[in-house]
Amino acid sequence: MVNHSSMEKRSAYKPSVLLLAGFLCLTLSGTPSSWLVADELDAERQTELLYLLKQDCGSCHGMRLKGGLGPPLLPSALKDKPAAYITQVISKGILASAMPPWENLLSVDEIDYLVYLLKDPESNLLSEHD
Ligand code: HEC
Repeated sequence: MVNHSSMEKRSAYKPSVLLLAGFLCLTLSGTPSSWLVADELDAERQTELLYLLKQDCGSCHGMRLKGGLGPPLLPSALKDKPAAYITQVISKGILASAMPPWENLLSVDEIDYLVYLLKDPESNLLSEHD
């Protein structure tokens, strides 16, 4: 008698399931969060965040974000600073300075959106709304 049990066990593996799991991992980890930002915040919230940037951040960084108590936050001033640094500063603030942390007031997506507004010269949103 030939023992078929080992053959049967091997056929129980389903390579397609493994492929699917691998594909999901790639899909989830491979998408930078910034690609999702515009979809996750509705237009109304985006307008509110622009307002917050001008009013709240502007109260220290200047209404046109050209600098005040805090340094200028225009795209030209921030172009050499990595987005990750700016995200960190907005989330955690800067210790022993006037720069407050925002992580308890804003979601991660909302902070990402602020970073996008600050970094992207193409957005032109700040100058247009004065
Ligand atoms: C109460 C005043 C105040 C408010 C409000 C404020 N900031 Fe600041 N911010 C500062 C100061 C002061 C610094 C510089 C701190 C230092 O480096 O010593 C700073 C630094 C920063 C930096 C680092 C800039 C660089 O060139 O390294 C970023 C980015 C920033 N703020 C973004 C924001 C954003 C976005 C908001 C609104 C969500 C905001 N800040 C609100 C005072 C403020």
